[in-house]
Amino acid sequence: MQENENIVWHEQHITKDKREELLNQKPCILWFTGLSASGKSTLANAVEVELFKRGQKTYLLDGDNVRHGLNKDLGFSELDRIENIRRIGEVAKLFVDSGLLTLTAFISPFKSDRQIARSLVKYDEFIEIFVDTPIEVCEQRDPKGLYKKARDGAIKNFTGIDSPYEQPENPEIHIQTDQKTVQECADLVVNHLIKFGYIQGNENDYAI
Ligand code: ADX
Repeated sequence: MQENENIVWHEQHITKDKREELLNQKPCILWFTGLSASGKSTLANAVEVELFKRGQKTYLLDGDNVRHGLNKDLGFSELDRIENIRRIGEVAKLFVDSGLLTLTAFISPFKSDRQIARSLVKYDEFIEIFVDTPIEVCEQRDPKGLYKKARDGAIKNFTGIDSPYEQPENPEIHIQTDQKTVQECADLVVNHLIKFGYIQGNENDYAI
């Protein structure tokens, strides 16, 4: 789609910097990526609970939920997944502009799409979190019975079965969920936010 040359960007008086100061946090996108049933939503939820307890302002965009509304017109073909992630990237960018610590939990299987989402914000506003759970473990968990359906051929283009998942090469945070508890994984993320000044706190509170 072409950009309309008759539409001009309008500067707003209340800027991201001002909101940042008011909210006392440095907004960013915490981009959780991984296979279905890898634990993205569980971990993103646990991180949000920790941040909420600390008084931080957050919002969580979750694949299954967003696909009930904003993206309910999209399926799982390659093109639809690209559009899914494009919209999420844009929405997450708006949330960052609003000053929030923005968590997103989408499979986001393609490197190029994650790269596009990253490029929408400043370099230090995008934190990629690879929720690294072996497919065998995801398939064994299979909380929604989708792996079984995919194996039986009842779902097509299922990530990890007949649709690819491209692993992040240099994620800011790499979490092997099968070696830690959910709380330990969440603490790793909170620690990172403290260490790099997104929120205030004492890293040692979270030493694991
Ligand atoms: S993404 O690939 O476009 O990023 P997204 O995270 O929004 O996917 O949605 C993934 C969720 O949709 C999965 O957790 C699963 O519950 C459900 N789902 C339904 N069909 C598929 C499929 N073909 N591949 C992967 N997930 C699917």
